[in-house]
Amino acid sequence: RQKLLIDTDPGVDDALAILMAHAHADVVGLSIAAGNVGLNHTVANGLKLVEVIGADTPVFAGCASPLVLPAEDAAFVHGLDGFGDTVYTAASSRASSEHAALAILRLSHEHAGELTLVALAPLTNLALALRLDPTLPTRVARLVIMGGAVTGRGNTRLIPAEFNIAFDPEAAHIVFSEWPQFTLVDWEATMAHGIDFSRWNALLAGTDKRAIFYRSISHKTLLFAQGERREKMLTADALAMAVALDPGIVTKVERRYVAIELQGALTRGATVVDWEQRGGNTPNADIVLAVDQTRFEAMLATALGRSDA
Ligand code: BDR
Ligand code: CA
Repeated sequence: RQKLLIDTDPGVDDALAILMAHAHADVVGLSIAAGNVGLNHTVANGLKLVEVIGADTPVFAGCASPLVLPAEDAAFVHGLDGFGDTVYTAASSRASSEHAALAILRLSHEHAGELTLVALAPLTNLALALRLDPTLPTRVARLVIMGGAVTGRGNTRLIPAEFNIAFDPEAAHIVFSEWPQFTLVDWEATMAHGIDFSRWNALLAGTDKRAIFYRSISHKTLLFAQGERREKMLTADALAMAVALDPGIVTKVERRYVAIELQGALTRGATVVDWEQRGGNTPNADIVLAVDQTRFEAMLATALGRSDA
């Protein structure tokens, strides 16, 4: 089985990705960042999810804030607790005492050459790990990042920026400029691979306890999506996870150089792509433009214990 290390800020769509990962692979750890909501909540949510799954995946708390500037969270999408303001009983387990950035480095040694690192959060923990040990990429088989908006159709008030990058642009800059080659699943790919609401409700209608839990924590996000007059449910982190677990679902990909804008008056946090390859920089990102929707939805069904749906 594939070995995964997931850096995450759960987060409703992170939760779906984490369910999917456990259904398909061995998860060696959840390293947790602040992002969607504060670190206290994202850690508690990670622990709860591991309990619902019935796994013993270790949970590592990481950075509580971005590297340089404070950032706005996404509680208006995910709920004040990051899990739809569902009042759930806290997990009895605790996070490890090891910092997430150190855990990433240790696990990269223990599973050298066989780890798929899946980054579903602001890149703060990963940037810190890279600063502590720049040789990290040599031990990681593959890095898949959910982040960015490759032609500027973002989802934040910084118009062309996507949340994970906008929350900690300096961290993203470190990772994008120092990680030699990674796979990027951005917000625009997410918008192109939404789930029809009727299909979504069918996927969540199961009696498996994962489906029951997910139905409750995702209710608020569903109302948010419908309130935004979106036509479909968007599941950024689950899409990135599907690409990490099964690279064969990708049907269109472009390898390009991508950099992070740190200064722009209107564009801080934007992912700037050299589409025409004019700048002479070595491409660092395999930008996923399309996946097989049927296979993606089948993976969502498995994540929720609905192999029949
Ligand atoms: C990303 O931002 C977060 O709100 C989601 O969990 C996802 O990782 C989408 O822009
Ligand atoms: Ca996330």
